Amino acid sequence: MKNFKMLTIILLSLIIFACGESDNVDRGIGPIKKVEIGALDKQLAEKGAEIFREKCTACHKYDERYVGPPLRGVTERRSPEFIMNMIINPEEMAKKNPTVRAMLAEYMTQMTNQNINEQDARALLEHLRDIDGAK
Ligand code: HEC
Repeated sequence: MKNFKMLTIILLSLIIFACGESDNVDRGIGPIKKVEIGALDKQLAEKGAEIFREKCTACHKYDERYVGPPLRGVTERRSPEFIMNMIINPEEMAKKNPTVRAMLAEYMTQMTNQNINEQDARALLEHLRDIDGAK
């Protein structure tokens, strides 16, 4: 019985520890701390697509490496917060975030800050979710 209690305590501690650890998602550095993601908002995605054509296609393609990395699949490899912080705050991300530092070393160009506000960054995120097949 005593052993059983010990075992329960150890198991509970492990579970609590694991839950704490599972929050080590890379949200990047910048103003975006938490993004609520739901069903795809088609209208918002359309707005994002327009901004993308205007401000992003000089350096990004969907499926090929260009000045920057190909962006299809980015919503699978990065968190929504990371993506929005990258769009809003690329200089600090390139200086301090290890993932972006590695990309900078590979692409040898720093993504420019185009003064995208939070709303437009959210629309861009929705566009990127759309091309990744979010429903
Ligand atoms: C001047 C070229 C340039 C422009 C313009 C640009 N980017 Fe980038 N982007 C890059 C580069 C280069 C990287 C790789 C990180 C670095 O080197 O700073 C990158 C990285 C990213 C990443 C992270 C990719 C990953 O795999 O983690 C996202 C997301 C992104 N860009 C989105 C955008 C969006 C959205 C726009 C338009 C608002 C945009 N970028 C405009 C050059 C650019």
